[in-house]
Amino acid sequence: MKLSSANINVMVKACRKAAKTLIRDFGEIENLQVSRKGPGDFVSASDKKVEKIIIDELLKARPNYSILSEEIGKIDNDNSFKWIIDPIDGTANFLHGIPHFAISIGLEHNEEIICGIVYDPIKDEMFVAEKGNGSYLNNQRIRVSSRSKLENCIIFTGGPRMEAKDRELSLEEYKKFSSIVHTPIRKMGSAALDLAYVAAGRCDGFWQRCLNYWDIAAGIILIKEAGGFVTDFNGNNTYIKNKTILATNSGINKEMIEVLK
Ligand code: IPD
Ligand code: CA
Ligand code: CA
Repeated sequence: MKLSSANINVMVKACRKAAKTLIRDFGEIENLQVSRKGPGDFVSASDKKVEKIIIDELLKARPNYSILSEEIGKIDNDNSFKWIIDPIDGTANFLHGIPHFAISIGLEHNEEIICGIVYDPIKDEMFVAEKGNGSYLNNQRIRVSSRSKLENCIIFTGGPRMEAKDRELSLEEYKKFSSIVHTPIRKMGSAALDLAYVAAGRCDGFWQRCLNYWDIAAGIILIKEAGGFVTDFNGNNTYIKNKTILATNSGINKEMIEVLK
């Protein structure tokens, strides 16, 4: 089965077009690792280039929709629809030649996310979700895992570049979690893919502080449409405002909140 509404088709097309540049640029990174200057400037330029391709494609198809995108910020149009874009999520991986990063695009209508796409161009994995129509990975329906015992789970978290106090809090949570629960914790380096992997049942939960809306917009609907839960650490739905996200399958949600709150 395939998700193919008009908006999804627009997002898929923009992603595929941008991915060609992203894949080509990723191929260059390996050479740049050994150069004296390193790949830093090249990666910033690539980020902007990929963002431009995505935005141009989206605006071509939907000239009136507003935009919030990591590199250029806001384009405000008087419209109830808004694209939320992260052109490369997992930039540190990209910079180091680690093939784990993604394009993330969410679509908001009247402040609710109604569609999302997270595309890993290297593995050619496209995670897509639409409100009421489920979540899919390369056109196959996906669901969150059914594990209900934390000890059998794998949990993802992230270590962002953040203020010292947030870093300390993050570290405390990490230590607390690992001392209470004997569960493997992974830091994969792309919040968008972390959420997509929870949606696909590859891992069972994800928590992180200080994430931006563009990191999680698409992932949120992927989780919800795959039957998972998205809250803040207290189980409330103010996670976008509070920038603290907990995404889980339905079996471990309560236990994760108990550990983190
Ligand atoms: C980052 C990634 C990372 C997360 C950071 C984000 P970027 O996004 O999602 O996994 O830990 O908080 O800033 O900078 O690669 O777009
Ligand atoms: Ca990001
Ligand atoms: Ca980014």
